Amino acid sequence: MNKKIIVTGGCGFIGSHTAVELQNKGYDVVLIDDLSNAYENTINRVFMITGIRPIFEKIDLKDEKETQHCFHKHRDAIGVIHFAAYKAVGESKTDPIKYYENNFKGLIHVLKAMQSNSISNIIFSSSATVYGLPEKLPIQEDLPTQRPFSPYGNTKKVGEEILEDVVKCGWLKAISLRYFNPIGAHESGNIGELPQGTPNNLMPYITQTAVGKLDQLQVFGDDYETKDGTAVRDYIHVVDLALAHVKALDYLLNNEDQTNLEIFNLGTGKGYTVMEVIKTFERVSGQELNYEIVERRDGDVPSLFANGDKASKILGWEVKRNLDDMIQDSWKWEQNNRNNN
Ligand code: UD1
Repeated sequence: MNKKIIVTGGCGFIGSHTAVELQNKGYDVVLIDDLSNAYENTINRVFMITGIRPIFEKIDLKDEKETQHCFHKHRDAIGVIHFAAYKAVGESKTDPIKYYENNFKGLIHVLKAMQSNSISNIIFSSSATVYGLPEKLPIQEDLPTQRPFSPYGNTKKVGEEILEDVVKCGWLKAISLRYFNPIGAHESGNIGELPQGTPNNLMPYITQTAVGKLDQLQVFGDDYETKDGTAVRDYIHVVDLALAHVKALDYLLNNEDQTNLEIFNLGTGKGYTVMEVIKTFERVSGQELNYEIVERRDGDVPSLFANGDKASKILGWEVKRNLDDMIQDSWKWEQNNRNNN
């Protein structure tokens, strides 16, 4: 059986780790990326890990013609994993049009190209941000979604709604995976997160401060109703997350009569405060971290963690890596990649 999978955003953080795990399972992967927030060298790094060079297509999914052409060339693909999207929360507030244009055009062009080429399986990269300020913790998939606090988050919520409608037309099967907080890196140290410019997220901010690229970490708020006052998140190792995509794909391909968009939370079910992450980093790395407590960040919720039972029951997915592993691998990656891409 042909096992070709198209991975959009395949040179990015989660896309590249997923490409490795797909190859490990015997899938042929085509990585599509416009390299707007990723590096082509990722292809070589995937090759260093797996010994297999993925096919690479430099395509801007905002360009419908290019997208159609590329999907036609790879019309023997049996599925698509759609990661390609802009994801900086702050930037999405100052330039919402850029986010709506990129994330919606990308999704729509991918769906049209899939339909024209009879490719009928898609996995969509979503986020826990669609739960807004959740009324109940841990979060189960049937908790109603809310209007997210950022245009970025809204592109994920509306992206899911678009998929819901298309699945009902009968030609498409789709799964949406709602990520909690992906961190870590491949244990080889060859691939990891490479944010362009100053990072927005906690883990790259911590590791870049520890290597001296940044002066000081700011901890956003210590007056939340949590055990130490700092906000709680459900951090998940990117390799565990990547493996969940492979499980979801297997499930999608074997589930012939899907009639609704299937949704899964991807988290560990355990929440850690920002201070716990900092203390774990200091212990695991042996480095003291320069940080100060500042005001809360606009739009942050106090606590977010998953109930991941559905993914483990239905997909047979297991979380294997703990916070120490996540931090160890993020730290190794940062140290390996101080000066290059
Ligand atoms: C955010 C987005 C989420 C997106 C994810 C990845 C929201 C509500 N969430 O998650 O949709 O998928 O990024 O891009 O918009 N923190 C600090 N100092 C820092 C950075 C972060 O204290 O310099 C704290 C934050 O206040 C938060 C925690 O660390 O409590 C995690 O922050 P971050 O890594 O940015 O992820 P989220 O905001 O949870």
